Amino acid sequence: MKKSDVVSLILTHKFKNIPILSFVKTFAPVNIALCKYWGKRDTELNLPITNSLSLSLKQGTHTELSLHEGQHDLIILNNQIIDSDSAFAKRASAFLDLFRKDIFFKLNITSEVPIAAGLASSASGFASLTLALNQLFGFELSNQQLSILARLGSGSACRSIEPGFVEWHKGERVDGLDSFAENLKISWPDLCVELLMINDSQKEISSREGMAHTVKTSILYKSWPSQVEKDLKDLKKALLKKDFTLLGETAEANALAMHATAIGARPPIHYSLPDTLFLMQKIWQLRQQGLEIYFTQDAGPNLKLLFLKNNWETVRLHFKDYLQ
Ligand code: PMV
Repeated sequence: MKKSDVVSLILTHKFKNIPILSFVKTFAPVNIALCKYWGKRDTELNLPITNSLSLSLKQGTHTELSLHEGQHDLIILNNQIIDSDSAFAKRASAFLDLFRKDIFFKLNITSEVPIAAGLASSASGFASLTLALNQLFGFELSNQQLSILARLGSGSACRSIEPGFVEWHKGERVDGLDSFAENLKISWPDLCVELLMINDSQKEISSREGMAHTVKTSILYKSWPSQVEKDLKDLKKALLKKDFTLLGETAEANALAMHATAIGARPPIHYSLPDTLFLMQKIWQLRQQGLEIYFTQDAGPNLKLLFLKNNWETVRLHFKDYLQ
C-alpha cells in the first residue's frame, strides 16, 4: 500500500485542495523513547515491528506554513533558504505532495534541537508539519488521525503529536490505521531528561537505514521483539508506581540492547563515539557513588540523561560541558 492511499483513507470528503487559512503556525515537541522503535514491518508506511514508549519534551519544532506563488516549495530552515534539490527539501516536499494538487507551499521551520543528530528533530518536524496542514486546510482531524499521518513522514513523529508519556501501538493492519500513538495520561513532573551533546553534526547512518540493515543482517535482532515486550511492561509499572530506579534501569538497558542489535549487524553499525563511552562510564561511576542518573541513546552519538529534579544542581555541576 502507498502513503497516498492512507492519506486518501483518512481525508475522505475532507480534501478540497483549497486552504481555509492563509497562514498557520504550529509547534510539536521532540520525543525521547524510553523503549525504542527499532525495525519496521512495512518500510513504506513506517509500520513498526514492536510498540514503543516515549516522553515528549519541552523543546521542539515551530512550523509556519502558507501557500507560495512559485514553481516549487520555498523551504526555510532556521532562517536559511534550503536548496530545493537537497535531501532535506526533497523529503519535506515529498510529504507535502501527499496533501496537494498543483500548489506550492512556503514552509518556515525553526528547530530548537540540531537537525539529524539523533535528537528526534525529524519527529517534531513532521509532527508540527502535520498539525500545520491540518490547520491550513481545516481538516479537523483527531489526534489519532494526525498521529497516523505524521508517521508517514517519520515513524517516531507519530509520538510527537501528544505531550507527556506516549505509547505507539504497532497495530496489525496492512493500511496501518491501527498504528498510532496514544497519551498514557500519566504525569511525573519530577522526571527530567536533558540532552548531553557530544556531536551536533549530521549522523552518518540515518535511523531509517540503520534499522533496515539491522533487521536484515543482525542475528541479535531476533531477541529484540520479546525484550521490548518485557521492557514495556516494566516501564509502565515504573510510571504507575513512580519507581525511578525501575524506569532508569529499563530505559538504559533498552537503549543498550538496541545498540547491541546494530553492532551485531554485518557490517556492524556503531553510533557511539569515544566521548559517548566516556560519558556512559562517568554516569555509571556517579551512580555507584550514589547519584541516581541513567541514560538513553538514539541513532547518534549523543546521550539523553534521565534524573529526578532534586538532582538537577549536581547534574549541572558534573555535565556542564555537555548540557545545552
Ligand atoms: O522515526 P525515525 O525513523 O527517526 O526513527 C527513530 C528511531 C530511534 O530514535 C532510534 C528510536 C525511537 O524510538 O525514537
